[in-house]
Amino acid sequence: MNITDIDWKKRNAENWKQQNLSNTLVDGSRYNSQEFMNKEWQYMWPKVWLLLGREEEVPNPGDYQMEEFGKESFLMIRQDDGSIKSFYNVCQHRGARLTFNDQGTAETFKCPYHGWKWRKDGKLIEAQDAEDFPQGNPCDNLTLEEVKTETFAGFIWINMDKNACTLKEWLGPVWEDWEAYEIHKWKRYVAQTVNMPCNWKIVLDNFNESYHLNTVHAPEKAVTKKRMPSGVDTSYRNTQFDLATEGHNRMIMKAGYGPAGSFEDGGIIEDPLASVMKDWGLNPEKYSGKGFDTREAIQTAKRKLGPERGYTHYKNLRDEQLTDAFHYTLFPNFAVSLWADGFHFLRARPHATDPEKCIFDNWWYSSNPENETSPIRSTVGVHERGKFADFPDAFEHGEKSLGQTIDQDAVVFIFQKFGLRSRGFNGAYFAGQEKRVHRFHQMIESYFEE
Ligand code: FES
Ligand SMILES: [Fe+2]
Repeated sequence: MNITDIDWKKRNAENWKQQNLSNTLVDGSRYNSQEFMNKEWQYMWPKVWLLLGREEEVPNPGDYQMEEFGKESFLMIRQDDGSIKSFYNVCQHRGARLTFNDQGTAETFKCPYHGWKWRKDGKLIEAQDAEDFPQGNPCDNLTLEEVKTETFAGFIWINMDKNACTLKEWLGPVWEDWEAYEIHKWKRYVAQTVNMPCNWKIVLDNFNESYHLNTVHAPEKAVTKKRMPSGVDTSYRNTQFDLATEGHNRMIMKAGYGPAGSFEDGGIIEDPLASVMKDWGLNPEKYSGKGFDTREAIQTAKRKLGPERGYTHYKNLRDEQLTDAFHYTLFPNFAVSLWADGFHFLRARPHATDPEKCIFDNWWYSSNPENETSPIRSTVGVHERGKFADFPDAFEHGEKSLGQTIDQDAVVFIFQKFGLRSRGFNGAYFAGQEKRVHRFHQMIESYFEE
């Protein structure tokens, strides 16, 4: 029999190539020492692709987005030819920051100090007393310092390394996986940007393992220790873990399983799964005690109803991608939980000076099919369709909830931060299912060796 389209859609993701792990000592000081932070700044951050902006926030020539990254700040500016150029947000006269505006529209950036005017393509076009420079007119000699810029999935990525590989080479197998979802069309519905009182790697470590799910997130009513209330099978035995040669990783958990209620009450399908089923014309009550059947039922319903509701990307997705939890961590600082219809954007940016602080972005993007009327269901809550989060809500950790799951994670971030300061901690003792954490630290150290 020929391989039909349907066979292809049913197949599961192939494993990425196996990686060999060496024995790296993951000690506590890397989470709190200035020395380790300096090493990251010297050897790693200037070499990696960073996801920094969103194309749709700069639709027209002159539109710009400014994004902070540790001690750096970048301007991403749409050019007349439609491309995007990015620059360090710093004046080449005597180093003043050009702007603190998060976004705006400008043909030129006038430095607040001595008024030099930089054009949006980086050229200096005006400097007072230009004849008074023994080295020559600065307008003839200076431009803003540009950084490599590419776009993918609707996001703007930059790399401070002029000799960096292409973004496509950098992303490796992630590129192909993500292309199928048409993420560039997705809209942001949640944008919380939080000052988190811990090192950025504590956050990434957490998103690099699922070993903590039973202890940190398991609700009291879970039927077994292996199920989360959304109906995701979190057992490591049934989870696919993949490490990419490029340093990124992927974790796939089967989802859409229903026994969220206890078996004593008949295996009642609970929220959020129950609401998702209703959205797709399924009656969750009919699936009481038959939770395992919900996965295929949702897949079938999405295949049938998806196209007429405007879910144009479903045709590119395999059945498992319609329901299951695909979690990616992109080296070094970006993690996503990618579902058929939404994308939990989890990014940790290093603090400018303090190794025990970071900036954590807890965002949610959703697909935006034209004929869909059901609300957006994110991991943070339920949102009215079309009510986008145009600007990030920035606050201190603890001031507001980040949603139940991330709140639970943030509690252990702090426990770990304090423990990692101890001279009595001898370095991490990793489980097999924590190999993504181990690899993450090896990747960081591999930059220090170069
Ligand atoms: S520092 Fe910018 S014009 Fe002087
Ligand atoms: Fe977690």
